[in-house]
Amino acid sequence: MERSALYYTPFNLRLYDLFVLSISNTLAWRCPTRSTLLPFYLKHVKSSSAHLEVGSGTGYYPATAAVSGALSKTRLLTLCDLNPNTLAYSRRRIARAGYTGSIETLEHNVFHPLAHSHDRDVRGKYDSVALYYLFHCLPGAFPRKATDVFASVAPALAPNGVMHGATVLGTGVVHNWFGARLMAFYNKKGVFGNIGDSEEGLRQALEEAFEEWEVTVVGAVALFEARKPRVIKD
Ligand SMILES: C[S@@+](CC[C@H](N)C(=O)[O-])C[C@H]1O[C@@H](n2cnc3c(N)ncnc32)[C@H](O)[C@@H]1O
Repeated sequence: MERSALYYTPFNLRLYDLFVLSISNTLAWRCPTRSTLLPFYLKHVKSSSAHLEVGSGTGYYPATAAVSGALSKTRLLTLCDLNPNTLAYSRRRIARAGYTGSIETLEHNVFHPLAHSHDRDVRGKYDSVALYYLFHCLPGAFPRKATDVFASVAPALAPNGVMHGATVLGTGVVHNWFGARLMAFYNKKGVFGNIGDSEEGLRQALEEAFEEWEVTVVGAVALFEARKPRVIKD
């Protein structure tokens, strides 16, 4: 398995929310989950009838959305990840959170085209596609890796759909002492691949792939949303 997905063992998944979503997001990346990332996520999933969660991790965002009622109109939730541990973990958590629609899982490398790689046709199927904390895990740099991922995933977006997400930038932002050390350690281990990821590079990839898009930087994290894919390569 790719190193970007390798470390999500059942044991590490139990520590993920505390270490990443609570401690690192607040103290290292300065982009708090509860006051910044979660409201951004909820705003975009609310009222979507079919949602695709790419890089599902522990399922914190969809599970919290289910508890808050933001998924009450969502009849289909598809979890896509390269690691079967995260798919099983997030699926269980979302079901326990009271989500009543159907949950499906796709074990899939996001660099490979999504539309044709499974026996289901996913083209134009989702009105919300989430990519949270995925890009900074992937090897390579912006714009290239984001262009490749957008080319794989954008065909799954419905005509009025929105793609949204967040990623820790590696360059062009200020990293505090804790963030700089954590980033260096994760990049050395291959958990992160974001040393060359800049806001400018992300903007280039979004401009290439979408007619409408927006990026906001909070601390060391870029939050992005995009609509109307330009070229559907599938
Ligand atoms: C840092 S976690 C993010 C989890 C969740 N989205 C969040 O924000 O809490 C990154 C996730 O991306 C998955 N992942 C890493 N590389 C991938 C790839 N090439 N294709 C699909 N998923 C991948 C990992 O297995 C993991 O679940």
